[in-house]
Amino acid sequence: MTAAGGPLDGRVAFITGAARGQGRAHAVRLASEGADIIAIDICGPVSDTITYPAATPEDLAETVRAVEATGRKVLAREVDIRDLAAQQQVVADGIEQFGRLDIVVANAGVLSWGRIAEMSAEQWDTIIEVNLNGTWRTVRAAVPAMIEAGNGGSIIIVSSSAGLKATPGNAHYAASKHGLVALTNSLALEVGEYGIRVNSIHPYSIDTPMIEREAMMAVFAKHPSYLHSFAPMPLHPVQHEGKKGLKEFMTPEEVADVVAWLAGDGSATISGSQIAVDRGVMKY
Ligand SMILES: NC(=O)c1ccc[n+]([C@@H]2O[C@H](COP(=O)([O-])OP(=O)(O)OC[C@H]3O[C@@H](n4cnc5c(N)ncnc54)[C@H](O)[C@@H]3O)[C@@H](O)[C@H]2O)c1
Repeated sequence: MTAAGGPLDGRVAFITGAARGQGRAHAVRLASEGADIIAIDICGPVSDTITYPAATPEDLAETVRAVEATGRKVLAREVDIRDLAAQQQVVADGIEQFGRLDIVVANAGVLSWGRIAEMSAEQWDTIIEVNLNGTWRTVRAAVPAMIEAGNGGSIIIVSSSAGLKATPGNAHYAASKHGLVALTNSLALEVGEYGIRVNSIHPYSIDTPMIEREAMMAVFAKHPSYLHSFAPMPLHPVQHEGKKGLKEFMTPEEVADVVAWLAGDGSATISGSQIAVDRGVMKY
């Protein structure tokens, strides 16, 4: 149960891609700091071009259980972020139930591997349509409601290290995540006057179902020079107990620490920033 007086007490957070992985960790972390949660996920396949297993309705139900275990309320719904009207509806329903909207974590995203001149149009379009256009639809659905509520707030856009550098072998993903930097920074300037802050985070190597080791290794085996763009994560102690993960990967909970900081008042001066969540590895 949450102790009364958590740093996000009385606030409401809208989180996309919340069924599992990082999205679930963000939902549980923000709830444990006092926020009520609006959680959406597609809970099913996005496209035939995405080859790792899809999240399920049971995954989203598990997020609901974990949030409720903190003592906070949650409105969870199966929504595709490519659907603007459905996102507007869930935001409206969440505000009706919880009274306001303060925090957005635009986290839903997909990844696939392939070379620019070889991939299908569907492979390219899926990544752009979900990661870039879908995230714009999240913002489009949430921002008017945040302005209307008049409480300011914090929007956290989940980009990637691939949003800051070249990543041969998944340039469509890099293009989508670079696009999110432009979305973040322009939005930060547009909504600053309403007390709304907007920042992007840029994680690297988080242990979630999105990471397809075999697909990555197949690309690197064929094109070894691409490895220069994917520096190995230095070995590090795992911070969150009970989550052993792989030593060279970080945990969703470690990313949630950064999201919680950006969501809260401790980052009140930070807007239009790109926050690397990579233990410095991208400086290689
Ligand atoms: N895992 C990493 O190493 C890593 C690194 C950098 C950035 N990211 C980004 O972090 C975010 C979270 O990914 P994750 O690692 O937790 O992977 P994940 O696959 O476990 O989680 C992504 C979630 O988003 C949902 N989703 C995908 N498309 C959707 C859509 N159209 N509508 C609604 N929900 C949708 C999925 O169902 C899934 O539950 C993604 O944006 C990803 O690109 C991941």
